[in-house]
Amino acid sequence: MRVLVTGATGFVGGRLVPALLAAGHEVRALVRDPDRYDPPEGVEVRAGDLADLDAVRDAFADVDAAYYLVHSMRAGTDFAARDRLLARHFATAADAAGVERVVYLGGLGVEGSDLSPHLRSRREVEAVLGEGDYALTTLRAAVIVGAGSASFDLVRQLADRLPVMVTPKWVQTPCQPIYVDDVVAYLVGLLEHPETAGETYEIGGPEVLTYGEMLERTAAQMGNRVVLLPVPVLTPRLSAYWVDLVTDVDRSLAHALIEGLRNPVVADDDQIRGVLDVGLTPFDEGVRRALEGR
Ligand SMILES: NC(=O)c1ccc[n+]([C@@H]2O[C@H](COP(=O)([O-])OP(=O)(O)OC[C@H]3O[C@@H](n4cnc5c(N)ncnc54)[C@H](OP(=O)(O)O)[C@@H]3O)[C@@H](O)[C@H]2O)c1
Repeated sequence: MRVLVTGATGFVGGRLVPALLAAGHEVRALVRDPDRYDPPEGVEVRAGDLADLDAVRDAFADVDAAYYLVHSMRAGTDFAARDRLLARHFATAADAAGVERVVYLGGLGVEGSDLSPHLRSRREVEAVLGEGDYALTTLRAAVIVGAGSASFDLVRQLADRLPVMVTPKWVQTPCQPIYVDDVVAYLVGLLEHPETAGETYEIGGPEVLTYGEMLERTAAQMGNRVVLLPVPVLTPRLSAYWVDLVTDVDRSLAHALIEGLRNPVVADDDQIRGVLDVGLTPFDEGVRRALEGR
């Protein structure tokens, strides 16, 4: 197939592009700044910002499927409005070009359960993309483990830099992290299974852990030990300031992610397992690879 990847410069997109090539697809990457993108051989690069509909229309011509791997959390507090706009432009351009399949990687979290602005926004993007004429397949994931993942970077840097942590209630929130290669295997595998067109799947790794356990086990992989001292109240705002001091993760992005720590992110529905046989990497092994830069 000829496949368009948006977000090709990102953590997931940067791994998806070579995997699609390896699976025999022709790949076109839509990037905002081609000077900052070093594509694998054979990739057709198109320049365009999804904020500018006219600049991206042509990139959708003659593609069979398109991936949406974009978010605006680095753009600041109005990211939700911006992400709705980008998704609308993507859907409009895909429809105008007659694209048949779209794949979106969004976020887990139970709707109506006081979802954080970030997780609510990921769900809004899913709804906006769902308005297109193509068949949309959505994968919903929690923290993706791998080198360069902003959410995993938060865990890794805290585990590395803070031997004793005063932690709010969110250390008890359950999360089902998944290793990035397994996510990419799902993303690629969907195209080989036409029955997944139009479906929504929850994906997760082999273990459900609390954020506290993720911190402890990540620290252990680094030869560190963290002591978690729970306190009943530590507002997301305070947690965010404190994360700013300790990590170098982009501030806007870190703040948006921290708000989401209160929401359980667990794949309750494992339908995807009946469709795609992806071997799931244990959390500790995923962390080990991420620490090696993979
Ligand atoms: N990382 C995780 O733990 C995780 C977990 C669950 C779900 N996901 C989902 O996975 C997807 C990809 O996330 P990621 O972690 O790979 O993100 P990322 O590394 O931050 O990459 C985001 C991508 O979006 C692109 N982008 C942003 N604004 C754009 C615009 N206006 N026009 C075109 N491209 C734009 C960026 O391009 P530039 O290089 O030009 O900025 C970048 O390639 C997202 O949908 C996210 O919700 C990620």
